[in-house]
Amino acid sequence: MTDAVTVTIRTLDAAEAEARLDELAAILVDAVANGASVNFMAGFTQAEGRAFWRGQLPGIAAGERQLFVGDDGARLVGTVVLSFAPQPNAPHRAEIGKMLVLSSLRRQGLGQRLLEAAEQAARAAGRNLLLLDTETGSAGDHLYRRAGWTEYGRVPGHAFRPDGRLAETTMFYKRLGD
Ligand SMILES: CC(C)(COP(=O)(O)OP(=O)(O)OC[C@H]1O[C@@H](n2cnc3c(N)ncnc32)[C@H](O)[C@@H]1OP(=O)(O)O)[C@@H](O)C(=O)NCCC(=O)NCCS
Repeated sequence: MTDAVTVTIRTLDAAEAEARLDELAAILVDAVANGASVNFMAGFTQAEGRAFWRGQLPGIAAGERQLFVGDDGARLVGTVVLSFAPQPNAPHRAEIGKMLVLSSLRRQGLGQRLLEAAEQAARAAGRNLLLLDTETGSAGDHLYRRAGWTEYGRVPGHAFRPDGRLAETTMFYKRLGD
């Protein structure tokens, strides 16, 4: 049984991400199976998970986004993606996505550590305004508030949960100190 304390948070380059597509997919499949509203519906498969992560590889290779993972030495147990805004008028902005921790390892600080790693990398890259959205009232909603993010709006009925119910989404931003 993995102990969250022994999990290392690090970046994964495109080559390693490609080699570990199955582990990345398993984390996403586990999240959807446990009801997380992360763009996909119930019945989401390992093959679909691999396809999602495969689609992220060119952007990672091009430096348009960075993938951070939790690694317990034997397998990957969490992810977060930092995507740099491509617009010429937004060189200071980035988005956070696919903030996922294996359901068996939650509430042990891994989500917070992944988020901190992404925020630190954003700051290092000169991206001091971060954006994300999440289902209102979800675990992510709690995590982001606790990590100092500011809510800037809510959209009722914004996305379907995996179980087919429409749910509200809350938008957050965080301005990073200099
Ligand atoms: C969101 C998620 C990544 C959090 O990961 P985690 O490793 O459990 O988070 P942490 O243990 O670091 O939690 C840090 C703090 O966030 C808050 N928090 C996290 N999960 C929470 C929950 N289910 N309910 C209430 N607060 C929660 C708490 O304040 C927690 O600190 P505490 O445990 O000392 O009270 C995880 O629940 C997950 O993968 N969920 C499914 C995917 C998802 O919805 N991602 C967000 C989409 S944007």
